[in-house]
Amino acid sequence: MNILLTGGTGLIGRALCRHWTAQGHNLWVWSRTPQRVAQLCGAQVRGVGELSELDAQTLDAVVNLAGAPIADRPWSKARRALLWQSRVRLTEQLVAWLGQREQKPQVLISGSAVGWYGDGGEHSLTEDSQVVTGDFASQLCGAWEETAREAEALGIRVVLVRTGLVLAADGGFLQRLLPPFRLGLGGRIGSGRQWMPWIHLDDEIGLIDFLLHQPQARGPYNACAPQPVRNADFARALGRVLHRPALLPVPASVLKLSLGELSGLLLGGQRALPARAQAEGFVFHFDSLDTALADLLTQPGSQRLRHV
Ligand SMILES: NC(=O)c1ccc[n+]([C@@H]2O[C@H](COP(=O)([O-])OP(=O)(O)OC[C@H]3O[C@@H](n4cnc5c(N)ncnc54)[C@H](OP(=O)(O)O)[C@@H]3O)[C@@H](O)[C@H]2O)c1
Repeated sequence: MNILLTGGTGLIGRALCRHWTAQGHNLWVWSRTPQRVAQLCGAQVRGVGELSELDAQTLDAVVNLAGAPIADRPWSKARRALLWQSRVRLTEQLVAWLGQREQKPQVLISGSAVGWYGDGGEHSLTEDSQVVTGDFASQLCGAWEETAREAEALGIRVVLVRTGLVLAADGGFLQRLLPPFRLGLGGRIGSGRQWMPWIHLDDEIGLIDFLLHQPQARGPYNACAPQPVRNADFARALGRVLHRPALLPVPASVLKLSLGELSGLLLGGQRALPARAQAEGFVFHFDSLDTALADLLTQPGSQRLRHV
């Protein structure tokens, strides 16, 4: 297949590139730094700085994952604008370009997050659920999804991947948690009762690959393991696998003061369930958090088995 990725240089995109290159697919990554794509994504992956470079190239699929990191810094007005521009505006540009092309790809797999639901409290959230609280992250995901859905009018199958917290050995959320936990300074966040919909990177890649190959798959899919855990249980599991105590809570008040509305991402959560993926036959390799963490943290990267 000929596949174009946006955000292909990111955590999920790089893993997709490794996976699909090994399967013999031809990959292009639309990037702000196309000259770095081969180094980051693999020698066979081609970087493009402008979509027009691919005007004459036949494409079978587009995977749209680009976006400035959402939890890196407080959501000032300028930061919100960048988060919006790098997802919604970029997707608008992508869909407009697809509209101009004579040859259309069959499928657009576009990113989203479980944050689409807002803070879901104790509700079990499947793809049939509605938005619970419309905070900024939820509005951002909503606009991102709606923009991608405009490609349906072009006859393109659109799949929306509502990703949970991706656990990976070499980046992302887990790597940011590790330093305090390794020092025995980790613990729950706030009350620790908020739900954390996590997913092992291998399952994220496996699910995107599954959705690429299912001609009837369209619309939203929750990309999170079937067993979400509460934040306090996550902290305990991480402490266990690292053989460190995880008893030092981060008070909610400190987070609210330092992070503003962004603190809601950490103090709230979603009890999200991958109902559609499971109903349509996707099998998660990692459904228990203990097994996922042990896989990621106790095996050197080069010796880790690739499960997808
Ligand atoms: N990882 C998670 O836990 C998680 C959870 C839920 C949702 N998601 C969403 O899934 C997508 C992929 O996640 P990821 O963890 O792989 O992301 P990532 O590692 O942060 O990479 C995202 C990519 O987006 C591009 N990007 C960054 N800032 C940009 C900007 N200002 N303008 C345009 N492009 C920009 C970059 O590509 P170039 O530098 O090549 O342009 C970058 O490689 C993201 O949109 C993220 O919000 C991720």
